[in-house]
Amino acid sequence: MFKFVPPAQIEIDVYDVITGYRQWSRSYDDTVTDVVDGAILSKFISFLAPRQSSIEYRVLDYGCGTGRNVAWLKSNGLNVSAVGVDLSKEMLAIANKKGLCDHLINQEFPVLEERFDLALCILASCHMKSLQELYDFISSHLKPNGHFVLIDMHPHMFYVGKGTFVPIDGRKIYIENYVHNISDQIECGINMGMDLKYLQESFVPDTWAAKSIDHGDLSGHPLGIGYLWTSNSPRKGK
Ligand SMILES: C[S@@+](CC[C@H](N)C(=O)[O-])C[C@H]1O[C@@H](n2cnc3c(N)ncnc32)[C@H](O)[C@@H]1O
Repeated sequence: MFKFVPPAQIEIDVYDVITGYRQWSRSYDDTVTDVVDGAILSKFISFLAPRQSSIEYRVLDYGCGTGRNVAWLKSNGLNVSAVGVDLSKEMLAIANKKGLCDHLINQEFPVLEERFDLALCILASCHMKSLQELYDFISSHLKPNGHFVLIDMHPHMFYVGKGTFVPIDGRKIYIENYVHNISDQIECGINMGMDLKYLQESFVPDTWAAKSIDHGDLSGHPLGIGYLWTSNSPRKGK
């Protein structure tokens, strides 16, 4: 892991997660794109779960923000009930209004009694300094044979100078990122005794590059990356 530093030529206000998402929450649902994660999530879910199934998935959405991921699962025919966890009160307030999760928790790595069938962490690990802490938390809250879907910006994007740059009121702000290489993710999952079932990338689409000032020169570059993990055996002492 290392801290991403925006290219020197960019003059930009830098925010930590809580302050940054306080600002972005107001426009998040209108500005976030599913180009990074949508196709990856779709592939993972079709691998895991028959849609329109009556099986209920108990979901832990870590870094749930405004509830976009749980909304996606429900609108794609999955029978889910969810607990959402997030550091930002303002993002959670929006999730709360949508009424998609039955429990929302504003705390980093809370200790929960419950174990889950499916855990998500989507577009959030790039803000976390310790990836191992995240994997430790998730794996200790999964049922045996439970699944963990982590999707985020591809580390390649940071190497070409991209990060969480967000348009707010006609200017851009930057919310602090940490770069986690693919080998870091694999090592953390293996350390927790999980099996990697699938690894999938998304790429900057030509159509998107053509209309995006930010990604105009990056058509075809790796944009997102997803890991589908399965927890096979209960961890010792859990
Ligand atoms: C880009 S948003 C993603 C929200 C949602 N997962 C989605 O895909 O729309 C990142 C979210 O991660 C949350 N976050 C960042 N670091 C966190 C941490 N250490 N613990 C819990 N939430 C965190 C932020 O508050 C923010 O709501």
